[in-house]
Amino acid sequence: MRQEQVQQAQPAQPAHEAHEAHEAQQLAAVQRILQAHENEPGALLPVLHDVQDALGYIPAHTVAVIAEAQNLSRAEVHGVVTYYHHFRSEPAGRHVIQICRAEACQSMGADALLAHAELRLGCSAHGTTKDGAFTLEPAFCLGLCASSPAMTLDDQPHARVTPRSFDALLAQVAP
Ligand code: FES
Repeated sequence: MRQEQVQQAQPAQPAHEAHEAHEAQQLAAVQRILQAHENEPGALLPVLHDVQDALGYIPAHTVAVIAEAQNLSRAEVHGVVTYYHHFRSEPAGRHVIQICRAEACQSMGADALLAHAELRLGCSAHGTTKDGAFTLEPAFCLGLCASSPAMTLDDQPHARVTPRSFDALLAQVAP
């Protein structure tokens, strides 16, 4: 995933100032994205994709700016963000797991795999583990239908995943 480096403020800075500085950096990144799509009619979805690629999620405080630039209401932008499973309203964990729940994978045990993942991680689909290490997301076809059930771990595809191989994959990444 392409993630723009948004510098965190120095630790010595008071927390509220650091938070404001971080939000200002996020807003600047969103403004650059909006400018890149300035003359593109109906660019809301490409804009949201670019924002998520850059920041990892669609921060709530940027919705008004996106809405204004796209001549939409905040509610309309919020509606699109929440309608599509792909978009996140909160930052993801350090590692993102996507488990395919589309038909071919379902027929090969994807539901059981997802249940195992939820149990193993202690969070439900669309959730993030308490330590912020993993976010678990359902996906709808990862293009590996012939080798289902499929999942991705930090955008790397894995085919014919079993609960056992899922555990092994997790063990390979630093928490
Ligand atoms: S249905 Fe799961 S990868 Fe296509």
